[in-house]
Amino acid sequence: MRSATIRESEVFPPPLLSEIEQRLARFVAEAGYSPNLREAVEYALLGGGKRLRPMLALRCCEAVGASPQSALEAACAVEMVHAFSLVHDDLPALDNDSMRRGKPTVHVAFSEAMAILAGDALLALALHAACSTGKESGRIAHELTNATSAMITGQVLDTLGGFPDGEGDLARLHSIHSHKTGALIRCSCRVGAICGGARPAAFAAIDRWGDFIGLMFQAVDDLLDVTQSADHVGKAVAKDEGAGKLTYPSVYGVDATRHEISRLRADALASLEPIGSGAEHLLTLTEYLAGRTR
Ligand code: IPE
Ligand code: IPE
Ligand code: MG
Ligand code: MG
Ligand code: MG
Repeated sequence: MRSATIRESEVFPPPLLSEIEQRLARFVAEAGYSPNLREAVEYALLGGGKRLRPMLALRCCEAVGASPQSALEAACAVEMVHAFSLVHDDLPALDNDSMRRGKPTVHVAFSEAMAILAGDALLALALHAACSTGKESGRIAHELTNATSAMITGQVLDTLGGFPDGEGDLARLHSIHSHKTGALIRCSCRVGAICGGARPAAFAAIDRWGDFIGLMFQAVDDLLDVTQSADHVGKAVAKDEGAGKLTYPSVYGVDATRHEISRLRADALASLEPIGSGAEHLLTLTEYLAGRTR
């Protein structure tokens, strides 16, 4: 696997990251929030996080032949939903976590009420960003709301259950992963391809790739929970099993999780074949995501 040799700056080039950061900041600055809400939203959204989802949108847009910047607003919309999902995921009623992106979580730094409301504000701001994407804005908004509903369904399954009767652990794991994490990652790829004017065959390939890397992303996240330190990943680790979470390592063990990740990596790489030479950055992203340690 090439992943060990891939530097983060290769996958997340500083100039593209800074365009994402600046556009996110401008959306917040123009939202008309009260000063205390603005502070909490900025804390939750700006200056932290890998920016994987926006980078996926930009790179998928580029892979189908457009400039990455054509997907900038859509990329910001997905990152806002992601930030909202993290703020609420960390709340005492859900995962009850006190560290995120190497800093105190929003409810710890502000208050539980502000964390709930800042999350709500981020969701509304995401829809605003989706509506700012130009001629495809209706389609982008539908993509975003569908993925958000799927993410929330996934959070409910992960936290409160509600699986169909008779469903086994493997089907439940797949359902949790594809809903709570996969849907938004796949959405990032789809909106990038839409903003890039993808033709049907390229769109289908990117959609399949997004599905595989989305599942792989959560399998790796679950693996990091049992193999990495909190300092390294910037959030609490070794929590999932004690919290009774259904994760790949808790059901099948670490070796089987690594095997599953390499299977998803291979499927993801194969799904890029129809894209041809345009897929260069998506191949690199696949390797990075299979081998990432944070
Ligand atoms: C963490 O996502 C939440 C999951 C879906 C597992 P990321 O690992 O992308 O979090 P940030 O944005 O880099 O903080
Ligand atoms: C969260 O999954 C996925 C979301 C929708 C936020 P986790 O609960 O495993 O994410 P982390 O480990 O807290 O980042
Ligand atoms: Mg959670
Ligand atoms: Mg969590
Ligand atoms: Mg996790």
